[in-house]
Amino acid sequence: MALEVRGVIAPGKDEPVRVETIVVPDPGPGEAVVRVRTCGVCHTDLHYKQGGISDDYPFLLGHEAAGVVELVGEGVTEVAPGDFVILNWRAVCGRCRACLRGRPQYCFSTHNARQRMTLKDGTELSPALGIGAFADATLVAAGQCTKVDPEASPAAAGLLGCGVMAGIGSAINTGGVGRGDSVAVIGCGGVGGAAVLGSRLAGAARIIAVDIDERKLATARQLGATHTVNSAQTDAVDAIRELTGGFGADVVIDAVGRPETYRQAFYARDLAGTVVLVGVPTPEMRIELPLLDVFGRGGALKSSWYGDCLPSRDFPMLIDLYRQGRLDLDAFVSETIALDGIEAAFDRMHAGDVLRSVVVL
Ligand SMILES: NC(=O)c1ccc[n+]([C@@H]2O[C@H](COP(=O)([O-])OP(=O)(O)OC[C@H]3O[C@@H](n4cnc5c(N)ncnc54)[C@H](O)[C@@H]3O)[C@@H](O)[C@H]2O)c1
Ligand SMILES: [Zn+2]
Ligand SMILES: [Zn+2]
Repeated sequence: MALEVRGVIAPGKDEPVRVETIVVPDPGPGEAVVRVRTCGVCHTDLHYKQGGISDDYPFLLGHEAAGVVELVGEGVTEVAPGDFVILNWRAVCGRCRACLRGRPQYCFSTHNARQRMTLKDGTELSPALGIGAFADATLVAAGQCTKVDPEASPAAAGLLGCGVMAGIGSAINTGGVGRGDSVAVIGCGGVGGAAVLGSRLAGAARIIAVDIDERKLATARQLGATHTVNSAQTDAVDAIRELTGGFGADVVIDAVGRPETYRQAFYARDLAGTVVLVGVPTPEMRIELPLLDVFGRGGALKSSWYGDCLPSRDFPMLIDLYRQGRLDLDAFVSETIALDGIEAAFDRMHAGDVLRSVVVL
């Protein structure tokens, strides 16, 4: 029996989102229906609403979620009804050339549920990042469900489903931050703040947080930044060099994703250092750099998809660290809101008032 539940729909370009009744079909082979407990509001949801991702309206928004598996379809063995799971948007295929080379975190053929959720009149919905979790229940591919310790707070756990995982992973997976390293993080919102936290977890000795908003610098300090730079007032490159003996940081993470912040990251790293781009640029953005500097400074210029995470490896491990008090995920939950509070939460996100608003169902 298909479920009829509430869901948050973006009906058209820049139109306000609204709560509507949606139809969630019974799970088919390889699919699962998940009762959503919590779902964070991410910048990407706003991009969907504004038409920055695609024109496949109406969207069912929400993708940073934790919940409980309610039903599974034929052939599903990895999760069972009653399991507490974090939803991920990179269910690996196990068969593509990346998976076959033993690098499933780069899977080039990730998948979502085959069936579509609809409005009551049959209109098909496009779920954000193949998830659509601003809803009482959602249909996903079983591989999008990662089982974790059910004792974890769902509001905190769900955040690993997107931005916080991207940030932590940009430091520990992509950047390879290790004990004693110096790290600079440019842009300390949800993603950059998590990169600060990940750098501390990995044992970085010096963690320099850079932002143009003092409030974000204050939270970055709580998350483990040893130094802060307000780049609206000070030259970020000079400041980072000054704080690293004149040389630059071993790893610089750009969690904004604009040409000017990428340029800062490029010049604020030490020789043979690593730049990690985790902020997402828009299609019209361009950057020009002297090729000799790209060569002469050595090291690595990398980008970080979803923190190069492997959900089955990273989610349970990070939840265990959280449960042990070694990873403060609660710090990212600025407020909890109801399903009808998404528009207001977008405004607060835009104003920089929150790290994350989390819908609790
Ligand atoms: N790579 C991934 O898989 C992935 C996943 C989730 C989000 N993201 C991207 O990460 C980026 C950050 O997301 P977020 O949720 O942290 O957003 P956010 O709005 O919470 O944070 C952005 C931060 O950057 C700061 N900032 C803006 N311009 C700046 C500048 N010129 N210099 C320094 N700081 C500046 C803001 O003050 C804010 O603190 C976005 O581009 C988002 O799309 C990437
Ligand atoms: Zn694959
Ligand atoms: Zn997201």
